[in-house]
Amino acid sequence: IRVLSVTSECVPLVKTGGLADVAGALPSALTPFGIEMRTLVPGYPQVIKQLEAAHLVAQFHDLFGGSARVLEANVAGLDLLVLDAPHLYDRNAGIYLNEDGLDWADNPQRFAALSRIASEIANGALSDWRPDVLHCHDWQAGLAPYYLSKSEAADQVRSVITIHNVAFQGLTSVELITDLEIDPADFTSEGVEYFGKISTLKAGLVYADRLTTVSPTYAEELMTPEFGMGLDGVLRTRRNDLSGILNGIDEVNWSPEHDTNIKPYKTPRGKIANKKHLQEEFGLLPSDGPLCVVVSRLTDQKGLDLLLEALPTLLERGGQLALLGSGDQTLEHAFVAAAEQPNVAVKIGYDEALSHRMIAGGDAIIVPSRFEPCGLTQLYGLRYGTLPLVALTGGLADTIIPATPATLAKQVATGVQFHPVTTNALANALAKLCDLYAEEKLWSKLQRNAMAHPVGWDQSAQRYAQLYTDLTTDLK
Ligand code: ADP
Ligand code: GLC
Repeated sequence: IRVLSVTSECVPLVKTGGLADVAGALPSALTPFGIEMRTLVPGYPQVIKQLEAAHLVAQFHDLFGGSARVLEANVAGLDLLVLDAPHLYDRNAGIYLNEDGLDWADNPQRFAALSRIASEIANGALSDWRPDVLHCHDWQAGLAPYYLSKSEAADQVRSVITIHNVAFQGLTSVELITDLEIDPADFTSEGVEYFGKISTLKAGLVYADRLTTVSPTYAEELMTPEFGMGLDGVLRTRRNDLSGILNGIDEVNWSPEHDTNIKPYKTPRGKIANKKHLQEEFGLLPSDGPLCVVVSRLTDQKGLDLLLEALPTLLERGGQLALLGSGDQTLEHAFVAAAEQPNVAVKIGYDEALSHRMIAGGDAIIVPSRFEPCGLTQLYGLRYGTLPLVALTGGLADTIIPATPATLAKQVATGVQFHPVTTNALANALAKLCDLYAEEKLWSKLQRNAMAHPVGWDQSAQRYAQLYTDLTTDLK
């Protein structure tokens, strides 16, 4: 089965969050199941720069106000189709945000273009390759199922959309409706309309053949008003087409045995040297409590304001915090201010190598998210024996087995969970973490449980492969 994955970011080319990790990992995870996946990405400057021996496979004279080309290339084992459209993508600053940190004003056109080309490829724009399935990721690719549904290939090519985060909905003024090549007749609540605006995510949710999201719990949560962010109604009507398929991690890049960013280790004992190194790097002195790490975007979603408030509980018990993150300015400033105290250290920025050293050197990783479709850093934590302390929500609920008297007795616990997502509950969880840490034997058992927990792609890749197979059986 041939699948075109349509994504606005993809590791190792360009990344702002977990979507890039997932898009980068899927193709090779799917190969053993007979799935041939190509990945369509925008030709941002950093993507174009990484292309070697690219060749031209399609050309378009007018794609939302300029000419465009599709280039075929292989980078790091990925079969890429790169949409080279300088009028849309050849810009400095961020891939979604301009130098002032605001959305590029033409983001609707920039990602409608990506979606349009996905549909063109489904309609045979490449002479030698045509997909059976379009696999679209998030709002950026949300119009692809729509364009496909209006095209000749509508009954020959199937579409899937994956929701990585329903908070991003691709909202656009209805004034752009003809510019975006959307039929005004589809501006209805059963179509692309969302409270008076166009939502490209909603377009995907309405027009795709199947919907997935990145954990089973988030799939259920999405159908509730609390988590669905206004799209819960649409999702409830498509309940039978929606499934939750858990993300895995890239086990080559994230393996404590082979990680070149750290002092590699096979057993939890190997963490001691990494912890010492990390404390030195962050200017932290040895202490009696656990060294807790955070690697995160700093946004409301991640609940890190609660961690600031609950911090005294950790510090009173001799615990420490090392945080790496960037994003919301208020949060950045608050963490920098918190780092004035002993046992708290903060680096604002984005640093891949440092993130590895933190996951290896930390005793625990804290993920107090208000909502979390899947989450990847708690999975890195499991793999590295760095016990996750997480909120009971979304993928965090699906991947961590909380320490309770029963799970401890059965020797299956892998971390600490708290609920509801409040400062109080988080503070209690931090106190519990410190209690567990103080019992050396118990702690090392938890670490071993965590390291043995499967976090790879095998099972989930099989589920995606099954989904594509189910979708395409009647095409053959
Ligand atoms: P989200 O996609 O919501 O940001 P995930 O946990 O799915 O959350 O994925 C985040 C990814 O980005 C992980 O691979 C994480 O290690 C990485 N990451 C986040 N912030 C930073 C940072 N400041 N430096 C390095 N890596 C980061
Ligand atoms: C989103 C979610 C995160 C998920 C990632 C990859 O950014 O916030 O929970 O792990 O997508 O699916």
